[in-house]
Amino acid sequence: MSGSDSTSVNTTMSAQTMPAPTPPDWGRGRYERTAAQLLPAAQAVVDAAGVGPGERVLDIGCGTGNAALIAARLGARVTGVDPAERLLDVARGLAREEGLDVGFRSGDAASLPVPDDSFDAVLSNFAVIFASDADAAVAEMVRVLAPAGRIVFSSWLRHGAVGQLSAVAPDLIRRALDAPPPPRPFAWHDENALRTLFAAHDMTVTVAQHDLVFTDESPEAYLEAERHSHPLAVAGFEVLERLGQAEQAHKQLLQILTDGNEDTGAFRSTSHYLTVTAVGR
Ligand SMILES: C[S@@+](CC[C@H](N)C(=O)[O-])C[C@H]1O[C@@H](n2cnc3c(N)ncnc32)[C@H](O)[C@@H]1O
Repeated sequence: MSGSDSTSVNTTMSAQTMPAPTPPDWGRGRYERTAAQLLPAAQAVVDAAGVGPGERVLDIGCGTGNAALIAARLGARVTGVDPAERLLDVARGLAREEGLDVGFRSGDAASLPVPDDSFDAVLSNFAVIFASDADAAVAEMVRVLAPAGRIVFSSWLRHGAVGQLSAVAPDLIRRALDAPPPPRPFAWHDENALRTLFAAHDMTVTVAQHDLVFTDESPEAYLEAERHSHPLAVAGFEVLERLGQAEQAHKQLLQILTDGNEDTGAFRSTSHYLTVTAVGR
């Protein structure tokens, strides 16, 4: 699931109680599978930033280190920040295996544990889009960016079966819990909204559109793997199972994948995303 729903549900509540929004734990499940799927986008983010040797690079929401490691291989001096401790440990292990010196630190996009003006490039591959307060996250990216630096991040455009799955799944869970709709998240996919958000910090925005293809042996295999690996799916299905609605939801999600399947002999779904570049005026 590729969506940017910034809250998950408290998995201990009943259908009658109000869900207290809690940040999802991205260390659950097996995020490593998703990281591999998102690797081409991490490459696109690093490419868009034009990272060079010796540059100071911050990867916000680094997860298992996709963009951070690519930048470090280019000779950049890289720091990765993420709230998920398990993913940071995986990232540290991967850096060690390659002999790359990357600093991975626990932290949130809205309060980055790094000094002002300290990075030439601030990157985020499908991560800052999960910040619950977009203004606060952008203010932090701008705070830590050195003069003449650039911010580059990726953001989903809703498209294809996988995009639809990510849009529908959180609603299925909320409906199962009889919970009210969440506050509307910031439109990280909307160029005009992004221009306005960054203009408040004297920054201009340019975007480029890309495709990311998700494949598997079949829609069934894709959904089964997502259900047991993607952190948001693992948490969501735990709630649905508790409420006895998991199989109904599974069928509904499978139908979305089957209807949107682009490959009659297997499974293929093309998602679109933006790389967003912000620089000072
Ligand atoms: C879709 S994953 C992307 C991870 C990584 N950038 C990659 O390319 O694989 C989203 C990441 O955002 C992180 N994240 C979620 N909320 C965050 C927040 N408020 N601040 C910083 N990172 C956050 C998660 O822990 C997770 O690692």
